[in-house]
Amino acid sequence: MGLRFIFMLTRNDETVGDAEQHLKTALAAGVHHIGFKDVGLPFERLKDLNAAIKAGGATSYLEVVSLDEASELASARAAVDIGVDILLGGTHVDAVLPILAGTDIRYFPFPGRIEGHPSVLAGTIDEVVDSAVALAARDGVHGLDLLAYRSAENVTGLMAAVCAAVDKPVIMAGSIGSRDQIEIARRSGAAGFTIGTAALDGDYPADSPELETQLRSIQRDVAGVNKHLSPFAPKNLDRAFATFSDTWSPRIAGQVNNMMVKLAKFEGEFVWHHHEVEDELFLVHKGRLLMKFRDRDEIVEEGEFIIVPHGVEHCPVALDGVCEVLLLEPATTVNTGNADDARRVTDLAHV
Ligand code: NI
Repeated sequence: MGLRFIFMLTRNDETVGDAEQHLKTALAAGVHHIGFKDVGLPFERLKDLNAAIKAGGATSYLEVVSLDEASELASARAAVDIGVDILLGGTHVDAVLPILAGTDIRYFPFPGRIEGHPSVLAGTIDEVVDSAVALAARDGVHGLDLLAYRSAENVTGLMAAVCAAVDKPVIMAGSIGSRDQIEIARRSGAAGFTIGTAALDGDYPADSPELETQLRSIQRDVAGVNKHLSPFAPKNLDRAFATFSDTWSPRIAGQVNNMMVKLAKFEGEFVWHHHEVEDELFLVHKGRLLMKFRDRDEIVEEGEFIIVPHGVEHCPVALDGVCEVLLLEPATTVNTGNADDARRVTDLAHV
């Protein structure tokens, strides 16, 4: 499913006063994971905010940044009361777990030692990893919220070490602000990451600082990092066939799973052959194709195709000069099949 982008309606670790307005923008931009913090707005407004997130079809996240135990427990109780989907952060796991027991809330506490506000992740990589391993082993802990970009350690090394040490999802929090950082998070094995301030302040690299443009840029970059963007544009057959003139020498025009799309020009008669395991499809783009079988002949006109199953002997013949044919067949297919013929081509050029 790829790396997940969680948009936080927060700036400098506080839920922003105009969160409702930004939420509308985020939902309109197609953001599916939206969070807020337990600091900045009263719980009544957070409850409405959460309801609006879920009404918009998104998954909701409450991140606990209060440091003292009493405030953290109040936030955990509020998470239950509000009905958030995922509770991020906090460090008083022993006290929070009983509050969440029996609910559907998924819990991703902070590994390591958290200090200050805005929060900072203290300690060495080894210390954070030890904490992550211990937390991830707990029942009721579904993942971890790593304040990677709030650590003074090597951030890339920290993320990779934590992800390698635990088999539960790890969300990277802090200050991701570029496609490169998103790519680093993905390569480290992260399940997701948060961005708040950078998008709200218009600091993410984009065509404009407007929030909608910021969010669309982040989502495009996430899709690119997840390899969910297609590199393909339409291919015009007339222009593709015009790039070569030799006959009985298929060109590779594309690949669909293990099937090759090939373009070939036929002229005159080919050779009787069959293919042991490969089926072949012949689509006539220009001209007329005669497909000879042992029991009959078939004529394939422009805009028509014919399938030749594996094992069936066939001999293609171009009628009326050159015939342009699009072939669809497995990558292993050799044009001459079992026949020993000089027109065999095994190293195909691309078109
Ligand atoms: Ni064949």
